[in-house]
This record gives sequence, structure tokens and C-alpha cells, in this order.
Amino acid sequence: MKLASVVGARPNFVKLGAVDSTIRSFSEHIIIHTGQHYDYRLSEIFFKELDIPKPDFNLEVGSGPPGVQIGNILKKLQPIFSKDNKFDAVLVYGDTNSTFAGALCAAKSGFMVAHIEAGLRSFDRRMPEETNRILADHLSDYLFCPTMAALNNLRREHVSGRIVRTGDLSVDIVRNVAKKLVPSSTILDSLELNDLKGQYVLMTVHRAENTSSLESMESIIHACEILSNREGLKIVFPIHPRTSNFLKRVKLFARLRQCKNVKIVKPVGYIDFIALLLQSKKVVTDSGGLQKEAYLLGIPCVTLRENTEWVETIQAGANILTGTRTSLIVKAVSEWMPRRPTFNRKAIFGKGDTADMIKSILTKELSR
Ligand code: UD1
Ligand code: UDP
Repeated sequence: MKLASVVGARPNFVKLGAVDSTIRSFSEHIIIHTGQHYDYRLSEIFFKELDIPKPDFNLEVGSGPPGVQIGNILKKLQPIFSKDNKFDAVLVYGDTNSTFAGALCAAKSGFMVAHIEAGLRSFDRRMPEETNRILADHLSDYLFCPTMAALNNLRREHVSGRIVRTGDLSVDIVRNVAKKLVPSSTILDSLELNDLKGQYVLMTVHRAENTSSLESMESIIHACEILSNREGLKIVFPIHPRTSNFLKRVKLFARLRQCKNVKIVKPVGYIDFIALLLQSKKVVTDSGGLQKEAYLLGIPCVTLRENTEWVETIQAGANILTGTRTSLIVKAVSEWMPRRPTFNRKAIFGKGDTADMIKSILTKELSR
């Protein structure tokens, strides 16, 4: 069997890392990196740490407006998806521009498309990820859903592909990394956090709707000022280049740097990130993946969004939506505690056998 994966951005690599070796146990696996993310800390480090073989192709499309980025991926992917290079299926992951472009080019080339992390909806079309997900789902032949909510969304939309609830690959990877790789991390030492275990907040912000709004970013930074300067809380902030670029452009970066307890660092690799997460008191984020990881590791999550695709984490009382309002962020970080102390009583993201379930479905279906 011959399968291809199209990946391009940090969250795609984490998912690929959770499934690559399982795919290689039954199929040839060609990895196509679109080049959407290209900085070492957003790309290559994940391949190294998660033991993913070097991509067979790198399309090197780089950054750009969505139409241009997606167009460039299609243009460079098409020759790889040629008649003499047949794939039994093409796998795409999550909701990035690379996900949608990979699904579209594969479907147009007559290949089966399998979407991992299918069916998620925020019902907010302003998010670039929402259109990517909807389009990838409707182009897919196999839709691997992480949650019941995702499965129900797809049923309501009457997608034509086969829908299966496989659980989420983050269960497979996050516990494995936490157990086997995190012990070798030295990030707590290097950021001088060893005496602050369980006391600092881990923060990430990169969502387009937040990082393109001066008002939203000002409000988030004001919350940092209150929490750090007034309440003396340590905040560790591995900052996405999109966010630092924006903050520098609108002259807010210096204000953030002046917060005396905010530690701004470059993006870190997955092992260090999970090490930081495990010892944090709370997470403040607008990331999708991090909401799940926080839930799985029992860390309370404050989400800087008005909505989320991971509705089960809210229903479980483990995650709270604050949007970007300063007062709500400050209150959630300093006062709110999860309703239930024990996370993951119900395995809302599955049991950690997602990669095996995907294998069993693909081997059965594609060998027909
Ligand atoms: C993308 C995904 C988002 C995902 C995020 C994970 C889309 C529409 N968005 O957003 O769903 O949550 O990745 O991190 O696909 N940049 C660099 N170096 C890089 C890559 C990007 O400096 O290696 C900067 C560039 O200025 C670029 C900006 O970041 O313009 C945004 O990059 P892009 O890939 O367009 O979107 P992300 O915000 O990273
Ligand atoms: N992540 C990381 N280093 C960082 C920030 C995030 O390894 O400095 C991980 C995080 O744990 C998550 C993955 O990157 O699993 C993708 O998260 P991101 O927030 O970039 O994307 P999203 O999940 O929002 O699409």
C-alpha cells in the first residue's frame, strides 16, 4: 500500500508524529511538507523530537495571504500527485491551509482522502480554520473524528465520506511524550522555574482573530500587566512569530516586555512544551491543541476565545472561555478552578488507540 501525508504547520506535525510509525507498519508512507511553517522552532524540531523521517518533498511555499499560500501549495503539489505517482490514500490533518490544499489536490487527482481530526466546528466562519475544516471534510472519503461532538457535526452536515469516531491522536502522543521524553527536558532549569512548579501560568496566543486586532492584543497584555505586576504571578509565554511581529508593529511588544513577571521566550519544541505544561498552574491560550493537552494532563485551561471546537472540555468544567476581555481573563486566572478535580473520568478523546484504529480502518478499506 502507498499512502501520502500532506503537512505544513506545527499542529500538523504533532499529529503526524503520533501516527507515522503506525502507518509505516502497513504501508509505504510519503511525507509532503508544504513549507507553510519553515522556522526551525516551528517545523524541523518536531520532526527530530517526534522521530518523524525527513519529508520526502518540501514544497517551500512559505508565508503569504491565504489564497496565494493555498494556490502555491496546489501548484507545487499537483506534479507530485501525477498519474505515475499513485497513492491509495492521502492523509490530511486538522484545519490549516495545508490541510485544505492537500485535501483539494488529492481529491482532484482522484485519490482517496482521509481527514484526521475531522468534524470539528466552532461555527465561527471568521476563523480561517473553520473554512479549511469544512472544505476538507466535504472532500474526504474517510473522516476520523476525535469526539462525539465532531461525529454529530458531520452527521448533521450529511458529508459523503465514511465517518468513524477514532478518538484523538493527542491522547496517543501526549502521555507518551510526558512519560518517556519529558524527564530529559531541561527547560525548567533554563527558565529558572524549578522553584515555581505548580505556580506559574503557561500562555500562548497566535489565533488570527486575536493577533490581527489591536484592541484584543491590548486587552490581553493589560491582563498580563495586572496578573504579573499587581498579583505577582509568573507567566511563561513562548511567543509565536505571528504574535511577536504584530506586537512589534503596533508598538505593544515593549509594554509586554516591561511586565516584570512575564517571561517571553521563542517557541519551544514539543518535549519542552509538554514539560512546561505539566508543571504549570494554569494555561492561558487561544490554541486548539493546547486545550486538549491541558485537559489530558489535568491542567485548568483559560481560553482566550468566544467559542471552541472542543466543547467537551467546557462541559467537563476543565476549560473556560473568556474571550479577550481583561477582567474576565484576570478573574479566570486568579479565581476560577475546574468544577471537577479529576479530569478525563470519561475518555472524551478516546483511549489512546487512535493510530491503531486508523490503521485497522485503512487496511480493511483500502485492500478491498
Ligand atoms: C497556522 C494555522 C493555524 C495554526 C497555527 C499553528 C492556518 C490558516 N493557520 O497559523 O490554524 O493554529 O498555524 O501554529 O493554516 N511565520 C514565521 N515563521 C514560520 C511560519 C510563520 O515567522 O515558520 C510568521 C509569518 O510572518 C507568517 C505568520 O507567522 O505570515 C503566520 O503564519 P501562517 O502559517 O500563515 O499562520 P499561523 O498563524 O502560523
Ligand atoms: N506547541 C509547542 N511549542 C510551543 C507552542 C505550542 O510544541 O511553543 C505545541 C502545542 O502543544 C500543540 C502544538 O504545538 O500541540 C500545536 O499548537 P498550536 O497552538 O500551534 O496550533 P493549534 O493547535 O492552535 O492549531
